[in-house]
Amino acid sequence: MKRILVIGAAGQIGSELTVKLRKIYGDNNVIASDIRAQVPYDLKHGGPFEVVDCLDAHKIVDIIVKYNVDTVYNLVAILSAVGEAKPDMAWDINLGSLLNLLDLAKELKFAIFTPSSIGAFGNSTPKDNTPQETIMRPNTIYGVTKVAGELLCDYYHKKYGIDTRGVRYPGIISNVTKPGGGTTDYAVEIFYKAIQEKKFTCNLKAGTFLDMMYMPDAVNAAIKIMEADSEKFRHRNAYNVSAMSFDPEMLANEIKKWIPEFKIEYKVNDVLQKIANSWPNNMDDSYAREDWNWQHKFDISAMTEDMIKTLKKRLN
Ligand code: SER
Repeated sequence: MKRILVIGAAGQIGSELTVKLRKIYGDNNVIASDIRAQVPYDLKHGGPFEVVDCLDAHKIVDIIVKYNVDTVYNLVAILSAVGEAKPDMAWDINLGSLLNLLDLAKELKFAIFTPSSIGAFGNSTPKDNTPQETIMRPNTIYGVTKVAGELLCDYYHKKYGIDTRGVRYPGIISNVTKPGGGTTDYAVEIFYKAIQEKKFTCNLKAGTFLDMMYMPDAVNAAIKIMEADSEKFRHRNAYNVSAMSFDPEMLANEIKKWIPEFKIEYKVNDVLQKIANSWPNNMDDSYAREDWNWQHKFDISAMTEDMIKTLKKRLN
């Protein structure tokens, strides 16, 4: 029987993952936690909810013991663009929370899911079909924390036998919680603007290809890797996972199939463009597909159709 703690439950991934986990494992077996007390109603009242600062190791131990937790999803993160503005904070939060958990897991023996990212790669990484194992010299503090986190997961698994598992997420697109402070955020914002204003000013150049994934697939990846038979795992740091790769023009053309008058224009943000240029165009995720049967459901067309239909209902 799984008893799951989600840290950062009100964030971009957490708010949808928690709801899905509660459906699968039962409301009372999934403890949502966040630093904010003001969170959506279903998170707070759909099952146990705790306010906790991810850096507060004492409180985290209390929660893990109180609920007899055997699996932790640690979704706390400062994303790439905010990280460049506040590097110290990105380091402290992105790695502090993970280190606390890894240390606690030595005694308390719970499994840990840690999201890594396309941000773990850098300018010297091969851009196309980016391999699982390759050069990782990121250009952002966000990426530095992701690489360090991956290495820590490997280390704690090898040295202490901790059940660490993770994926390198691409940009994630969702119609529920908006991301905050990432480089791939344009791919979410574009849908809101397309529906509300029929035009969008993109902060990345046409031709900037990046891996992306629709939230239902991102949630499934997290659940699937934690459910998988770890005998087959060849990697404990984080698996490349992808669902689609596109540039802003391709996405705009998909949106035009639903909103023909939609127009995209460009006002490039140099900081974000530099970050995006340092990330892969598309990753090879065959290890994830082979080792734990990773499969995506949504390609760019299916994702666009679902985003537009869902958001139109809500926004109009
Ligand atoms: N979506 C993240 C960002 O843009 C990358 O993992 O920072």
